[in-house]
Amino acid sequence: MGARLLIALALLPLGWLVVQIGRELLLPGSALGTDPAEALVQAFGHWALRLLLLTLTLSAVARLMHRPQWIRPRRALGLIAFTYLALHVLAYLLLLSGLQWQAVAAALWDDLLHRPYISVGAPALLILSLLAVTSTNGWQRRLGRRWKQLHLLVWPSAMLAWLHLAWQAGASHLDAWLYGGWLFILLTERLGRAVQRRCRQRAREQARISAQNSARNRASS
Ligand code: HEM
Repeated sequence: MGARLLIALALLPLGWLVVQIGRELLLPGSALGTDPAEALVQAFGHWALRLLLLTLTLSAVARLMHRPQWIRPRRALGLIAFTYLALHVLAYLLLLSGLQWQAVAAALWDDLLHRPYISVGAPALLILSLLAVTSTNGWQRRLGRRWKQLHLLVWPSAMLAWLHLAWQAGASHLDAWLYGGWLFILLTERLGRAVQRRCRQRAREQARISAQNSARNRASS
């Protein structure tokens, strides 16, 4: 029930934005301001980043509260975040092209080379596309233990996505701080857990070695 509600809430902005696009098509200038494509790039971009961070938050909270069942909607939320991201990039291509698609490739290349925030957004998009494609049960089975390692790439992609936002001259400083703080807390929790696990592993290894040594000593005496 909770999972379904969360998924419905995550889809709500998409529904609202589709309604705004419909209104804009029927009556230009009525719903998305003076530059509809830019308004859509920004709205879809913010929702992509919020949902990406929300997905990571869900995992952290589930771990901290010892509620593994809370991570159930994680995959659906990640895919919804990716949908917003795909729409963000689609709206950007629309903005770039002005509907003249022949010019898109050259303009895209130019942006990739000359706008640092696009240069860091692109690898984030590539990584998140790879994670979305391999999020299925089939890929999880096929990749085995490597699946978890591959999906750790969500962290560098979230950092690149944050850099993409923070590097934009037009983006608000408050947004950069809020998203940055949110990501920093999540990263601290994740790194803290990795260090804890490493310490526990090392302690277990040490206990095993000393048990082996004392057994050897007993056998030789
Ligand atoms: C190839 C990949 C990407 C491209 C080409 C791209 C393109 C853009 C562009 C052109 C803008 C500026 C819109 C404006 O004029 O105000 C923008 C803003 C934004 N993008 Fe991306 N983006 C990419 C990847 C991403 C990713 C991976 C995320 C997050 C998951 C993201 C989140 C955002 C956000 C939150 C903003 C809004 C910044 C603001 O408040 O103005 N983008 N993006």
